[in-house]
Amino acid sequence: MPLISRQRIRNLLEREKTAFESAHPTSRKLAAESAPHFIAGVQMPWLVEWESPFTLFVDKAKGAQITDVDGNDYVDLCLGDTGAMFGHSPDVLVAAVRDAVDQGLTYMLPTEDGARIAAEFAKRTGLPRWSFTLTATDANRFAARIARAITGRPKILVFDGCYHGTHDETLARLDDGRVNPREGSVGPPVPLEQTTRVVEFNDLAALDEALSHGDVACVLAEPALTNCGMVLPDDDFHAGMREITRKHGVLLIIDETHTISSGPGGYTQAYGLEPDMFVLGKPIGGGIPAAVYGVSEDIANRFDALLDPEHPVVVGIGGTLSGNALSLRAVRTMLENVITEENFQYMFSIAERLEEGIRATIEKHNIPWHVSRMGARVEYGHTVKPRRTAREVEDTTDGELEQLLHLYCLNRGVMITPFHNMMLTSPSTTAEHVDLHNRIFADCVEELTNVAAEVA
Ligand SMILES: Cc1ncc(COP(=O)(O)O)c(C=O)c1O
Repeated sequence: MPLISRQRIRNLLEREKTAFESAHPTSRKLAAESAPHFIAGVQMPWLVEWESPFTLFVDKAKGAQITDVDGNDYVDLCLGDTGAMFGHSPDVLVAAVRDAVDQGLTYMLPTEDGARIAAEFAKRTGLPRWSFTLTATDANRFAARIARAITGRPKILVFDGCYHGTHDETLARLDDGRVNPREGSVGPPVPLEQTTRVVEFNDLAALDEALSHGDVACVLAEPALTNCGMVLPDDDFHAGMREITRKHGVLLIIDETHTISSGPGGYTQAYGLEPDMFVLGKPIGGGIPAAVYGVSEDIANRFDALLDPEHPVVVGIGGTLSGNALSLRAVRTMLENVITEENFQYMFSIAERLEEGIRATIEKHNIPWHVSRMGARVEYGHTVKPRRTAREVEDTTDGELEQLLHLYCLNRGVMITPFHNMMLTSPSTTAEHVDLHNRIFADCVEELTNVAAEVA
């Protein structure tokens, strides 16, 4: 196997940073001018982690392409980290939203669209009862609240390396068996071990032990970890998790916000999972803020039983703008026209092409990397085999190498998701788009493994 030297990575990274800076004078100017007005100097504090020397400012985006304020066009394989995974501003959504804005935007009353959406999700997931929020974070929070209310237990369990939004109880890490706030988590309200148990993904024995204490209301899980790099479930993981959660009377919440890449009903539909609750946010409104959560008939009945029939009151779940008319019109339009089986079949075929191109380069150069795919979501990692836990991912992540690959792509017209090497294909992503990525990826690997160039 060729050795990729640290010096080579650093030299190329410096070159790419310089190229990035000279190609983005307007973004650089906007970043510098706006920094004093923002918390942490950027529009959203987490943007401090973006891979480029300063963040790009966007002019516009359509389909699978995005254009920055300096007029540079990119094939967008990041797609708003799933928020735009069905393409930017699909025509059908634009028309529906234009129509909806003339009819009033939020009323604190239901619309027919909400009823249609609930019925459609029931069909796709097998869970009959639904509600709405604006973000997946809120959907997860509300699902966990319902779980605590009906089980009378205080804690939730999450897997190490998870991300379920800014839901306080989930921002936890497992450090040598102890539950700690995850790195960068700002101002946790109480020590995390009071609210949360954490175990490694794919560790069914640890899950069984953690649930045996009888204090966990729900397990909140993605079908695969997608936010610390992609960690796929072992073959027996989901069946085992379901059996163990049932054994301990613990509710299972499946968060499909990213794994909706597996198909129109997410991984749940594609692989026959049987969650008690299902959460989906980000892409379902096509970029208009919207999220849903659904529950089984049993959970719904247990929740109903908590309400006083004479004087029903529900606080702690909801939100004034949740289920607003515009969001619901967007979700209904997306479900009926864009988040369809036909589009998924196309997205899968393009994602397969992306995966195969990356694999061909890895094999050609015999480098110790791998590529994984979950439907329309593709990710490569810098180990020979896919990792089975978040800890393994962390121990094998090479920040400089990742930054180089991201910048190398960006400087040549392809945007991949920052923080790890994740890419999505949309109904607008073409074979030419992914071939461009694969050529750039191959060129980068060629340069990285070119020992002669380093010596020179
Ligand atoms: C699996 C998962 N759940 C929930 C969220 C939170 O989504 P939002 O930031 O829209 O609330 C994310 C965000 O990345 C996510 O990846």
